[in-house]
Amino acid sequence: MSEHYYSKKPQTASDRRTIEAELRGYRFRLTSDAGVFSRDGVDYGSRVLIGMMEFAEDAEVLDLGCGYGPIGLAAARLAPRGHVTMLDINERAVALARENAAANGIVNATVKQSDLYEAVAGRRFDVILSNPPIRAGKAVVHRILSEARDHLRPGGALWIVIQNKQGAPSAKAKLQEVFGEDAVAEIGKDKGYRIYRAEMV
Ligand SMILES: C[S@@+](CC[C@H](N)C(=O)[O-])C[C@H]1O[C@@H](n2cnc3c(N)ncnc32)[C@H](O)[C@@H]1O
Repeated sequence: MSEHYYSKKPQTASDRRTIEAELRGYRFRLTSDAGVFSRDGVDYGSRVLIGMMEFAEDAEVLDLGCGYGPIGLAAARLAPRGHVTMLDINERAVALARENAAANGIVNATVKQSDLYEAVAGRRFDVILSNPPIRAGKAVVHRILSEARDHLRPGGALWIVIQNKQGAPSAKAKLQEVFGEDAVAEIGKDKGYRIYRAEMV
C-alpha cells in the first residue's frame, strides 16, 4: 500500500531500519520505519540544512515536522545548554524521534505530536527549523512560514530548506511578504536545495 508520510496514524506495516549518520561532527544511530519520511537515510535537504544552521548554545529551538528526528537531534547537540521542541503530525514519527533522542543520550529535547504549531500555542522560540512537508501541499507549507512569526522572539529566526523545483521561489516570496524583504536571506544552496533564513526584527 502506498501511503503519504504525513498520515497522523500510518497503517503501513512496520519495517524498521537503523541509520548511522554523522551530523555536524556528531555520530547518531537513528531508527526509521515505513510510513515516515526518508526511511532509508537522512534526507539530502535535511543534511544541507543541518550543515548550515547556526544558533547559540543556549537557544530554545523548535523543529517543525521532525520526522524521526535528524534535524532536531542535531540541533540538540549544537545547543547543549538550550532545548529543542520537536513536533510532527505523524504518530509513528513522533515515537521514533522520542526513541532516537533516548537512544542517543539526548536529554535536552522534547517530542510531541502536533498539527503544525498547535502544541506550542502561545510559545516563542529563538530558532525554528523546518524541512517542510512539500507533499502536504502549498497551503500547509505556507502556514509553516507565515505562522512562524507568532512563535519567534525578537531577533529569532526561521530556517528552512526547500528544493528549487519544489517551490523555493514561492516560499521566498511568502517569507518576504511575512517577514519583510530585508529580513529574508538565502544562506546557501547545494544541488537544487536552498536554505532560507527569515529573521524576526
Ligand atoms: C519533509 S519531512 C521532514 C522530516 C524530518 N525533519 C527529516 O529531516 O527527516 C516533513 C515532516 O512534516 C510532517 N508534517 C506534515 N504535515 C504536518 C503538519 N500539519 N503538522 C506537523 N507536521 C507535519 C511530516 O509527517 C514529515 O515528517
